[in-house]
Amino acid sequence: MQLELELNGQHRTLEAEKSDVLLDVLRRNGYTGPKRGCDTGACGMCTVQIDGDPAMSCVTPVAKVDGSTVETIEGLGTQSDLHPLQQAFVDNSALQCGFCIPGMIMRSKALLESNPDPTETEVREALSDNLCRCTGYKKIVEAVLDAADRMVGEQPVAADGGGSRCEEFSSPCPREEGRPQ
Ligand code: FES
Ligand code: FES
Repeated sequence: MQLELELNGQHRTLEAEKSDVLLDVLRRNGYTGPKRGCDTGACGMCTVQIDGDPAMSCVTPVAKVDGSTVETIEGLGTQSDLHPLQQAFVDNSALQCGFCIPGMIMRSKALLESNPDPTETEVREALSDNLCRCTGYKKIVEAVLDAADRMVGEQPVAADGGGSRCEEFSSPCPREEGRPQ
């Protein structure tokens, strides 16, 4: 079948098998930001936005999304011009291996679109289906709250500037070398 998507702001027609889930099609076509973790809807690492709502692409049949608007982490900022959420994760050191981060950020983006000024409890509840093996969640929650402040106040960079870490992430991160995509 042919899958018609509005994908990261561009109309795309993608080849798909009827048995595919959205994650299969995205990754086959180079959108490797959504990660394959559990493949059962239990970890959140494959999270994307479908028609604005967060969704686990590993359990989303392609037939359900034909004609939909899909956003992946590739549609956010670039290495030299990060989305405020991405910048906040960097500035708050809210990542270690990074494998869960695309899903965390897409889930957080959906939260801030519906609730621009969430409490810590609301952030924790929103991210409760997204697992991280590394950070212990505290820094991730702090990053989302920081991003909310920046996006409300339209402050693209934190008080500490995040400069050194920003430079670190402006080229391929050495920690990512050899990591599965
Ligand atoms: S890979 Fe989709 S929820 Fe775990
Ligand atoms: S940063 Fe490693 S799984 Fe979250």
